[in-house]
Amino acid sequence: MSERDQELRESAAEEIKKHKERVESDPYRLSFHHMPPVGLLNDPNGLVQWNGTYHLFYQWMPFDTGHGAKFWGHYTSKDLMNWNHEKPALTPSDWFDKNGVYSGSAIVHNDLLYLFYTGNVKDENGNRETYQCMAVSEDGVNFEKKGVVVELPEGYTAHFRDPKVWKQGEHWYMVIGAQSEDLQGKAALLRSDNLYDWKHLGDITGSGENELGSFGYMWECPDVFRLEDQDILLVSPQGLESDGMDFANTYQSGYFAGKLNYDQGEFKHGDFRELDRGFEFYAPQTTLDEKGRRILVGWMGVPDQYEQSHPTIEHQWIHCLTMPRELTWNGSQIIQSPLEEMKEMRGPVLMHSSITIENDQKAVRGIEGRPVELNIEFDRLDDQFAIELFQYASISYKDEVLTLSRPHLEDKTKTEFRRVPLQQGLKQLHLFIDHSTLEIFVNGGEEVFSSRIYPQPEEERILFTSLGTSTFSVEQWKLGGYKWNDE
Ligand code: FRU
Repeated sequence: MSERDQELRESAAEEIKKHKERVESDPYRLSFHHMPPVGLLNDPNGLVQWNGTYHLFYQWMPFDTGHGAKFWGHYTSKDLMNWNHEKPALTPSDWFDKNGVYSGSAIVHNDLLYLFYTGNVKDENGNRETYQCMAVSEDGVNFEKKGVVVELPEGYTAHFRDPKVWKQGEHWYMVIGAQSEDLQGKAALLRSDNLYDWKHLGDITGSGENELGSFGYMWECPDVFRLEDQDILLVSPQGLESDGMDFANTYQSGYFAGKLNYDQGEFKHGDFRELDRGFEFYAPQTTLDEKGRRILVGWMGVPDQYEQSHPTIEHQWIHCLTMPRELTWNGSQIIQSPLEEMKEMRGPVLMHSSITIENDQKAVRGIEGRPVELNIEFDRLDDQFAIELFQYASISYKDEVLTLSRPHLEDKTKTEFRRVPLQQGLKQLHLFIDHSTLEIFVNGGEEVFSSRIYPQPEEERILFTSLGTSTFSVEQWKLGGYKWNDE
């Protein structure tokens, strides 16, 4: 361990200690979501299962609730319910990553855990340099940096980052989020036989390619994987204009499905589809676990989207990750489902069937509070239906459009909205509500909304409103939350 590395680790540990009480006294602290011990968390990184243990790393700025020279924080779990917070995996201690150990991925090879990440470097004039780097671990907690494995190829600006590595046939592949010299977002593909030497194959797709038209000035955090007979590219493009109900956040996250030709490095794909319709979702990453499930974790935050308006900054922390979700393909789109494991957090069920509300607003006995899971299934819904959560957020359905609204985080005099059309109507809402998060799985995971919510801590009421007649059932479970065995 270098002196600089040691120094950074000690300062981060001091920062945790200094603010521990403040962070822990926050009523918005989370019980089943990963949050930073102090400071800012952003992208999930290096999600992988190795010898039974899940590793989940994250972009971490310990010293501030703003962005900066990121560390890789590290959580592990054997069952996705009992978690350990490990010591930081990587610190920005070397010349090639001194301004941030930026996002990347993990793979297992020959009984070793390999991390690939972007070393972010700024020179004395503030000019950016980017290096794709590697680190290796034998025990899953101590990582040895191996330095730079990919230099910036020609044709790109220094916005070239977030390597995701996987194996296909005999070769290793790496997809990188990039900006071409003419300032278009791209997904660059590289290939290697030994993980150290990488050949740049070109862009598999990007803004201005594959009939996409102009599609953003930078693409971040790409991920390529197979779901059934589809090759999927997940990516977070920056620079898309909001368009009706679409692209409502500052930056987007979504996917293309199609066929990737690995020999030619060509990807024939359909339209971009947003993965999540909530206020906070970005930079998701997936892994294939040992059960063969494609698991996704996203960041429940969006860069530059009034981040400093989140009230948790008063308690010296900001942002969290989404719950892990399983991805499947239904023949025409990705379906996202909460993991089976989440059921282990449940207390006893409270069930009400065939509740009818007609032109009225009602509470339903016992349905209240948080953390809680609610499953609502509709038998009849004829005009408008709404659920009001804690006098704060509202989920409403009218004219085949589902809307989530909350007080505008920055301008409290306004309400902000996120919407999605539901051509097949509304059949089910499956909600997971933590102290300051809301995840809504709609119609079995056809659509998802992930958002932070900041109701008054003591406000527990959930109200149901119907114009016309609505008949539905509700199941509720109080949720116990993750168990933490710290360090
Ligand atoms: C996405 C991102 C990545 C980068 C990381 C830095 O949120 O900007 O492109 O690697 O965050 O923390």
